[in-house]
Amino acid sequence: MNAPVDASLRPTLGRACGKLILVGEHAVVHGHPALALPFHQVEVVAEAIPVPGPVQVTSERYDANLAGLRRTAEATLVACGRAPRGFSLHIRSTIPMGAGLGSSAATAVALVRALARACEHELPDAITTGLVNLAEREAHGQPSGLDAATILLERPIRFRREHEPVPIALGTRAHLVVADTGRQRDTRAAVAAVTDMLRHEPARAQACLAALGGLSSDAEAALAGGEVVALGQVLDRAHDLLSALGVSDLALDTWVGLARRAGALGAKLTGAGRGGCVLALAGDARMAGAIAAAWQEAGAAAVYQEELTG
Ligand code: PMV
Repeated sequence: MNAPVDASLRPTLGRACGKLILVGEHAVVHGHPALALPFHQVEVVAEAIPVPGPVQVTSERYDANLAGLRRTAEATLVACGRAPRGFSLHIRSTIPMGAGLGSSAATAVALVRALARACEHELPDAITTGLVNLAEREAHGQPSGLDAATILLERPIRFRREHEPVPIALGTRAHLVVADTGRQRDTRAAVAAVTDMLRHEPARAQACLAALGGLSSDAEAALAGGEVVALGQVLDRAHDLLSALGVSDLALDTWVGLARRAGALGAKLTGAGRGGCVLALAGDARMAGAIAAAWQEAGAAAVYQEELTG
């Protein structure tokens, strides 16, 4: 006869979706606003299993920053009024790593949620944000906090450093198509490249960053008013400004060009750039399908479609 299963050893799950930056990446690091959306085509699931001994974190795919995640797990237990030990955490994820879809922040959010649930403790969002940013700082240096806020709130937001995130209205029906180009980007290096440009060409860099921040307001107005053509133009302009900042490259420009030739209303890199994902805006499902087909044919590692609904 099988031994009875100890119910206390069953894993407690925490989940988190990915994120997409619509406009304002890099500008947000320097105090300008950015717009981001939760991305439900991908997710992370963290399993918390009570075990004796120190906290352990293992992952099927996410091999970076396990030490940072362990520190976040220990701090989460303390925030839940527990000793910083006694759990094994296992991470499963469909978010490609290094692609700009928020894999590191989503992993930390899922882990904090799993542990808080296992401890039957409700953590206020502000505490969870601090815990997630602990892991994010180890992964990226000085994150703006945009990824963590978008994934935690699971709502489209306008985000500005040192300000509360503001939920934004989507008065539009449109389709976003996202391709993972298959080349991992390095957020820390891309952010450092912009900082370098600020040092060497301050006027040009500041003008690009301010213009990118301004595009967040234009995008927000276009989203609220259902003006998809105007939104597409904002995305195109944002990609040009990111190129001027040196975070696009020939390969990303080619991916963006493919989407535009397939009929996209606008297209840009999303996230830190120099690899990772590109996104395109389509007015209807047929246009979205044509863009997805063009990217698939060009050898994208993954192509996703998400409907924007008001
Ligand atoms: O790590 P990514 O690709 O999601 O990029 C984050 C966006 C940046 O603005 C470049 C950095 C940040 O901390 O906001």
